[in-house]
Order: sequence, then structure tokens, then C-alpha cells
Amino acid sequence: MLAREALLEKRILPVALDQHRTPYFQALLDYVDSGVLPFHTPGHIQGVGMDLAFREFVGDNICAIDLTPMPGIDDLLQPTESIKEAQQLAAEAWGSDHTFFLINGSTSGNQCTMMTALDPGDKVAVPRNSHKSMLGGLIMSGAAPVYMQPEVDEELRMDHCVTPVTVAETLQAYPDVKAVYLVSPTYYGVAADLASIERIVHDAGKLLLIDEAWGPHFHFHPALPLSATAAGADLCINSTHKMLSAFSQCAMLHQKGKRVRLDRLASVLKMFLSTSPNLPMVASLDVARKQMATEGETLLSRTIELAQETRARLNEIEGIYCFGTELCSRKGVYALDPTKITVTVTGLGYTGYEASEILRRRHNIQVELADLFNIVALFTIGTTRDAAERLVQAFRDMAHVGRALDMFAPSGVLEQRLKHGNFRLPPIPPMRMRPREAFLAAAEFVNFRQSAGRVCAETLTPYPPGIPVIAPGEEITPEIVDYVRLELKAGVRIQGPYDDKLRTIRVVKE
Ligand SMILES: Cc1ncc(COP(=O)(O)O)c(C=O)c1O
Repeated sequence: MLAREALLEKRILPVALDQHRTPYFQALLDYVDSGVLPFHTPGHIQGVGMDLAFREFVGDNICAIDLTPMPGIDDLLQPTESIKEAQQLAAEAWGSDHTFFLINGSTSGNQCTMMTALDPGDKVAVPRNSHKSMLGGLIMSGAAPVYMQPEVDEELRMDHCVTPVTVAETLQAYPDVKAVYLVSPTYYGVAADLASIERIVHDAGKLLLIDEAWGPHFHFHPALPLSATAAGADLCINSTHKMLSAFSQCAMLHQKGKRVRLDRLASVLKMFLSTSPNLPMVASLDVARKQMATEGETLLSRTIELAQETRARLNEIEGIYCFGTELCSRKGVYALDPTKITVTVTGLGYTGYEASEILRRRHNIQVELADLFNIVALFTIGTTRDAAERLVQAFRDMAHVGRALDMFAPSGVLEQRLKHGNFRLPPIPPMRMRPREAFLAAAEFVNFRQSAGRVCAETLTPYPPGIPVIAPGEEITPEIVDYVRLELKAGVRIQGPYDDKLRTIRVVKE
């Protein structure tokens, strides 16, 4: 395996282009300065026709640059000027060959990736714990999944990444797989061994597609896990809005090498992008790139230091565990993003949901994620020292008050789950149809309890752990019915079904 130092050298640092430039943002500013009389969309005409209370709140400037593609303002669907340059700057910054701006999140990144890399009937190896947009990509592309099981951490009761061994075994068992798709890092900040996996996948002549929605910052600091572009992914998806400073919904799709057809990618993007993109959003991608390329390492150093310090202080509180690099010896954990603070609260007698509610109601703090056992607090370049201090104080208070005295804590959810819940996911059921076929097939609703043996036409995903127990095209097994009923009894949310009480389930008509 390549030494980490050597891998870090693979990062292509911005040297050739002037990364201080923000060509697209500048084009919008130039339009505003020009005083052109607008007779074009959007209909609020730079804020003039907008509801006053809303306009006063959001501000005149954002209204002024909410424009439409026209001469001087490049078109995201067919970039030839400032967006072309902005995307080239982003490609250089992330070390890709080409980078494309997305305005419908990593969700559209996953869908575009599948539509670009795969034809109907192609097989793709995917982790079972992928984001639901991956499944959307499979339905749209008509590809067939070969599921790889991520490593399940029995102690923390969360799933980590798939290992190089799992990838190698999958390719051996399914030599006709066209591409390997990975999720790294996970929601909890656990990263896969991308360098080893890249070698296995490319040596086997397959495509490497990586959902790096949670790692757009990796490329800009040596203390963070290796980025997917540095590792050599053919396509890689970044949610620029999640961990960097772009507006919500802003993401990027990075392409590298010669294995993916660029013309296909370009036509897929045209299908997925609105012809009327929100221009402030596009400009925020341009600016977020500049920020990372020019001062990313400094900003991230501060963030990492604050997160590490906070992790250490939280770990001093009795009943709280906040994992760190000691996790890297576990299966499926190759590296960790220190800026994700996962606080396991069960030692305090709370569920993650309860802890999250207490943080919000008593301390006015909102965290990113709560599951049965943990909460996840994001530390980004926008997190202040004061905010970190309040978080630590809130947990101290929570530990001090104790569950018995706590008026906010809804009682017994954790106990119920521990009593009734089944932590072992049932085996992945047999796939009877491809997801697309099942999605498009005539369907009917049947009683869930009596649905074993039918082909499922929807997805059931209990949270946690957030891994689908069944996806469209798979056979509903008796184990799945039992498992899901136990989870429902224990108060676990099941995402995906049309009937959210799951009295019925949508199945393919026989
Ligand atoms: C791993 C992963 N991929 C993709 C997405 C979708 O990202 P977005 O919300 O930017 O569409 C998410 C969202 O949480 C995610 O966790």
C-alpha cells in the first residue's frame, strides 16, 4: 500500500490558476453595477416586486443577484464563460480533471453518477447503507445492485464503511460488476481505506464512484482523511453545503481520468439541472471554492483544533463517550473526520433523541443528527469557540441533572428498544427484480403482516441504523416482517413506506 505521505503528494495543490478569483460571483456583481433595466425573470425584478417583509429580512443584495442566464451571465447548462472558469478553478482546487456545479444537492450527484456510469442491466457493487438517492440513481439508470455489507460496530451500534476485503470478495464473486460505488465518510465521519480500494477496483478494470457528500473539506487539510479525488475516484460527489460554506443544496461532482464518458456526463447533467438555476447558489459555490483554495488549511486547522479540544472536554464528563482516533483499529474504520462530534449518551440513561430534545428545549442548541444512542454535532469553519463552550456546558448540565430528575426526558424509549429491539439486521433478501422494474411495475397494497413472499415495491429503512432492510425488487422475507414489527413496537421510525404506520406495504402485483 502507498504510504500516507506519498498519497498526500497525490493531492494536486492549486498552483496554476489564480484561486483568489471568483469569476461567476464577479459576473453577477458586474450586472448589478451596470444598471441594466431588467425585463427578465425572476419576476420579483431584483426584489422590487417582492413581499416587503421577506425582502427586508433576506436583504436587497441577495435579491439583486437573483438573476437569470443572459449575455454576460453564463449558463450552468452550457457554460462557456464565467461558470466554465469557476468550474475549472474548482477542478484545480479539488484535484479533479473536471468539476461540475450542482444545485440539487448530492442527491442529484448520486443520480447523475449512476446515470452516467451505468446502463440498464449493468451491475454495480454498492454498500447497503448508501443514502436513498443512490437507490433513486439505480431506479433511473436501470442498473442492478450487488450489495456489500458495511462493517457493523456492535458496541457503538452503528455501521461503518465497507473494507477493501469486502470489495475484493465482491469483485471475485461478481466479476461482471461494472462499477464499485462507496459511501465515505459516513454520517458519523468514519472514512474508508480509499487508497487500497482504488487499487483493487481499478486493477480489476472497474469504475470507482464515491459518495463523499460529507467530505468536501478533506482535500484541504492534511490531518483529514484522504479525499476521493486524491484517491483517484472516477466520479466523486461532494455536498459543498454540508461541511463548507455554500448555500443549502449546493454540491459538486468531480470527474477524474478517462474511464467515464464526459459527453454522457454532460448530457446527463443537462437533464438534471434546472434551466433556471438559483444564481446566488451557484455564486456561493464559486466563493466556497475560493475560500477553501486560498485559506482552507488555516480555517480547517482552527476547526479541527476546536473539535479535538471539545471532544476531550466532553470525554471528561461521566456517562458520555465521544469517540476519536482509537476507533481506527476497528473494522470498517480506516480514518476519522475529527470535525464530526458523535456523542454517545446512553451512559447518561438517555436516548440520542432525548438528549437532542433536551439540548434544544433547555439549552436552545440544535444538533445535526440524533439516533437511538448518539447525537452528532458538526464542527465546521463556522463553529465558534463560544458555541463549543455552550455545547460542553449543556452536556455537563445534562449529566448533572440526571435522568431521574429530568422533566423533559420522555421515559422508557431506550429501555423499550433494548427490550424489544433487534439489533441484528435480517439477511439481505433475494432480489427478484431490478429496482427500476419493481418501481415501474403495477403495484398493490397488501397487509404488511401477511406480505412475506411478495416482491417489495418500496424501501423500508429503520432509523437507526439507517440501512434499508428491503429495497424495491426484493422479496419480503418472514425475518424482515418480524424485524420491522419489533422495530415499530420499540418506537423506531421506519422511513420509506407510503403507509407510514406500515399496516400495508406496496408490493408488485402478481
Ligand atoms: C451519504 C449521503 N449522500 C448523499 C446525501 C444527499 O445529500 P443532499 O442533501 O446534498 O442532497 C446525503 C444526505 O444526507 C448523505 O448523507
